[in-house]
Amino acid sequence: MKFSIGAVILAAGEGKRLKLDAPKPLAPCLDKKLVDFPIRELKKFINNNKITGRLTAVVGHKRELVQTYIEKNYADIHFAVQERQLGTADALRSYFNSSTETKNCEFTLVICADTPVVSEIELTDMFNELKAKNLDGIAATFTEEVPTGYGRIIRASKGFHIVEEKDASDEQRKITEVNSGLYILKTSYVLEHLEKIDSNNKSGEFYLTDVFKDGLNVGVSLFKNKKTFLGVNTLTQLEEVEMALREKIITLHRNNGVRFIDSKNVYIDSEVEIGYGTTIYPQAYLTGKTVIGQNCLIENGAILKNSKLDDNAQVLAYSSVEETHIKNGASAGPYARLRPGTVLGEKSKIGNFVELKKAVLEKGVKVSHLSYVGDAFIGEESNIGCGFITCNYDGANKHVTKIGKNCFIGSDSQTVAPVEIGDDCFVASSSTITKNMPNGSFAISRGQQMTKEGIWPKF
Ligand code: UD1
Ligand code: CA
Repeated sequence: MKFSIGAVILAAGEGKRLKLDAPKPLAPCLDKKLVDFPIRELKKFINNNKITGRLTAVVGHKRELVQTYIEKNYADIHFAVQERQLGTADALRSYFNSSTETKNCEFTLVICADTPVVSEIELTDMFNELKAKNLDGIAATFTEEVPTGYGRIIRASKGFHIVEEKDASDEQRKITEVNSGLYILKTSYVLEHLEKIDSNNKSGEFYLTDVFKDGLNVGVSLFKNKKTFLGVNTLTQLEEVEMALREKIITLHRNNGVRFIDSKNVYIDSEVEIGYGTTIYPQAYLTGKTVIGQNCLIENGAILKNSKLDDNAQVLAYSSVEETHIKNGASAGPYARLRPGTVLGEKSKIGNFVELKKAVLEKGVKVSHLSYVGDAFIGEESNIGCGFITCNYDGANKHVTKIGKNCFIGSDSQTVAPVEIGDDCFVASSSTITKNMPNGSFAISRGQQMTKEGIWPKF
C-alpha cells in the first residue's frame, strides 16, 4: 500500500534533564505517558483528514520499555531503532532505513515525543499550508520572549534556516521566533537533503534542522499560542505542560456549556466527557473514562474514577466514586464512598459516611447515614436507616444480601449474608438478620430491655 503520510515520532533521546527513571517518552503526563499524546493526535489527524498514514516511533534509549508500552497500547505502530543518539537527523535516517515503505510515502511528518500539547489542529493547518503553497517542507514556529534552548529561525527572502542555541551568534540569540521541532516535508525533498547533513557544529550532532535552507522552497508556519509547542526537557516543563493540557481540556468543556467555579483547581483527565449544564466546584478530580451527563453537580473535592453519571446526578463534597454508575437524579455524599460495581438507581440518595461496594440500588433507595452496603441488592424505594451494615464476609468468602422493594430497615441493624429480605418488609432497629424474611414480614432480633430501679449509685 502506498501511504500519503509517513509520520515519525522521535522518541529515542535519553531525556537526562528530566531526572526520572523512566525514559522520557514514558514520563507520566496527566493520566497517560508523554508519548501517548503525539500518537493520539496523529491518529486523529489521519482519520479526520482521511489520509492514508503510516506511523513509526524511533526508539533508542531504553527502547524495550518504550516499544513494549507502545505495542501494548496501539496496534498499528512501526518501530525504527536508533542505536546511538547522534541527533535528530540521525534519528530520521534510522527511520528511513527501517523499511522501504517509509520512502514511498509522499510526505514525511516529524513530531517529537516530548511536545504533548500539539494537537491535530496544528497538524492539519500545517498540512493545508504546505499543500496550498506547494512547499517542499514546512516547520511550525512560535515566538518566545525568552528563547533559551530553542533553535532560532533565520528567515530569508526565500526559504529559511535554523540555528541551534549553541551555534548561534549573540545577534542570532536575540531572535525570538523559534523552532517547535514539528515538520511536514515532501519525502523526496527530505531524502535528498538528509544525506548531506553533517555534524560540524558545537554539539557534534546531526541536526535535522539543517534540512531547511535559504533559497529553497521551504516555509514556516508561525503559530500564535506558544503553549501549544511547550517541550518537556525538565520536571518544571513537565508541570507546565500538564497545566497547559489541563487548561485545554477545561476550555473545551467550558465551551460545551460546563460551568466551573474555580477551574484552576479542577483536575480532569483527557478522556472524561461532561454534559451541558453541569457545574463543577473546586478541587474536583475527574479521571479515567468518566462520563458525566447534563445538569449534574460535582462538588468540592469529589473524586470520580471511571464512573458514569446520568443527567441530573450529584456527587457532593468530598465523595469518592469509582467504577460506579449513578443514574438520573441520584445523589451521593457529602463524604460518601462508592466503590467498584456500584449502581445507584434513579433518584436514590446516599448520605454522609456511607460506603457501598458492588451494591446495586434501585430507584428511590435511601441510605442516608453511616452505613456499609457490600455485595448487595436493594429494591426500589427501600429506606435504610442509620448505621446499617451488610455483614458480607465470613472470614473466607463474600456473600450476597438481597433486600426487596419498599422495605424499611431500622437504624443500627445488620444483615448476615447470605440472606434475603422480601418486598415490603420491616426490620426493627438494632436487629441482626440472619434468616430470610418473606414478603410483607416484620423482624426484630434484639435483647429485651431490663430496667432495674435504684441500682445505679449516685455519686
Ligand atoms: C530540538 C530542535 C530545536 C527545537 C527544539 C524544540 C534539533 C537539532 N533541534 O532541540 O531546534 O527548537 O527541538 O523542542 O532538532 N531524539 C532522538 N534521537 C536523537 C536525539 C533526539 O530520537 O539522537 C528525539 C528526542 O527523544 C526528542 C526529540 O528528538 O523527542 C528532540 O530532541 P531534543 O534533544 O529534546 O532536542 P532539543 O534540544 O529540544
Ligand atoms: Ca526537546
